[in-house]
Amino acid sequence: MKDPMSLIDGCDVLASMGYAKNIERGPGRHGLSNAFFLYLRDPDGHRIELYNGDYLTSDPDFKPIKWDLNDPLRQTFWGHEAPDSWFDEASIVLDVHTEEPVETGEPKLKKTKPQFMI
Ligand SMILES: [Fe+2]
Repeated sequence: MKDPMSLIDGCDVLASMGYAKNIERGPGRHGLSNAFFLYLRDPDGHRIELYNGDYLTSDPDFKPIKWDLNDPLRQTFWGHEAPDSWFDEASIVLDVHTEEPVETGEPKLKKTKPQFMI
């Protein structure tokens, strides 16, 4: 999106058209990148993100940071907890060759939803 207000405008358009329930998360600001986000569910239930801003890492000596799942700076800058649907619901993905649904397994993380500490 061209600017953060575009996300707000998107919410207004969705609400005015009767799709307010399709706004799943946000608008908000990501903790790591400080980018603005808005997560929506399309009519088929697929999660999509509208996004503005990003961070640039151009220093080749920059060391990667491993963030803890419960680090509040990793989550959202404004302190909004992710909805349960974020961890419990996902789209069915089709195999690109067979077009059959890809089999899913149990989550690999020990914890599926971070504790919120703000
Ligand atoms: Fe995002």
